[in-house]
Amino acid sequence: MSDKMTSGLSAQSAKPCVLFLWEQGNALEWKFFMEDLVGDIDFRVFPDVGDRAEVDYIMTWMPPLGEIEKYPNAKAIFSIGAGVSHILRDPHVPRDIPIVRLTDDALSLDMSLYALHWTLHFHRGFDHYLRQKQSKVWKRHPYPANEDRKVGVLGLGEIGGKLAEMLRDVHFDVGGWSRSKKDIEGVSCFVGEEGLAQLLRRSEILISVLPPTPETANLLNDARLRLMPKGAFLINMGRGEAVVDDDLVKLLDEGHLAGAVLDVFREEPLPSLSPYWSHPSVVVTPHAAAPTNVKYGAKRIAENIIKMETGRPPHPVYNASLGY
Ligand code: NDP
Ligand code: OXD
Repeated sequence: MSDKMTSGLSAQSAKPCVLFLWEQGNALEWKFFMEDLVGDIDFRVFPDVGDRAEVDYIMTWMPPLGEIEKYPNAKAIFSIGAGVSHILRDPHVPRDIPIVRLTDDALSLDMSLYALHWTLHFHRGFDHYLRQKQSKVWKRHPYPANEDRKVGVLGLGEIGGKLAEMLRDVHFDVGGWSRSKKDIEGVSCFVGEEGLAQLLRRSEILISVLPPTPETANLLNDARLRLMPKGAFLINMGRGEAVVDDDLVKLLDEGHLAGAVLDVFREEPLPSLSPYWSHPSVVVTPHAAAPTNVKYGAKRIAENIIKMETGRPPHPVYNASLGY
């Protein structure tokens, strides 16, 4: 039996009106999983919106510019992803209602596995073997023990914190950097500009999972990336704005950095003229590190709707003063 009546809203509650504002999403699948938890929902799918004044909640990914401000009674905006920059790119998005991020263990796990995959790729020299195959070369490359490989994680929040623990658990020598000081067993934690320099100097493989904020924009520029040891690797799965693209390409061309895996870009889809497409030392993935899983994402949004309908605050809410 479905747990609709036991864990959702009571039969006496008014049906919440939820707008699904994601043109590429499978609305019916989201509705199915959300109703399983909330009970009946007045679920509307953009552009068949009906009376916009009736909408209580907007769930969205990459909303059309100017759309969200048209819902005078919306109580919250739910991102169908961890980040909210796709919503905030619209300057008219209301700021007096919560913009709710999506955090979920399954999403953090997928992100961590993506980073672990590419960490192993570089650590074990699989990049060499892909190249060697072109010229039929049979040659092994030695690699250090995991505890002798220093891996850095920028951002130790929902995702980065779990990633740092996963890397630690497979015995890498892990360091991490965040805005507020963290205490993660077995992980060297850094804060501030000097802490960042310390982390960069030790990171043979650096993974960024930072949100886009005025402070993180252009953080990984020539001067900072040059602090990394020669032959180091970068994996960026946070946001493209953190990397100064021309500087990264220059450092790869010079061989100071040996390779990069990029999942996120300033402009997405990545424009065809981007040098990343053809760069031999760059792997491009199409913002695919951890696409939101419908079953788990729907559950998180449904839980937050139940919270709000029963007078409790949603979580986690975008903090405008921090920018994430
Ligand atoms: P969180 O808000 O939980 O964590 C953000 C981390 O970044 C925190 O540790 C925070 O520090 C740190 N941080 C923020 N600003 C600074 C700063 N100025 N200096 C140092 N550290 C800073 O976010 P999540 O972990 O849930 O997600 C992170 C990002 O990952 C998202 O914003 C999104 O951009 C990206 N993402 C990408 C996906 C993909 O498929 N490529 C999928 C999902 C997310 P503190 O802990 O002190 O607050
Ligand atoms: C993101 C996501 O925020 O895909 O990038 O969830």
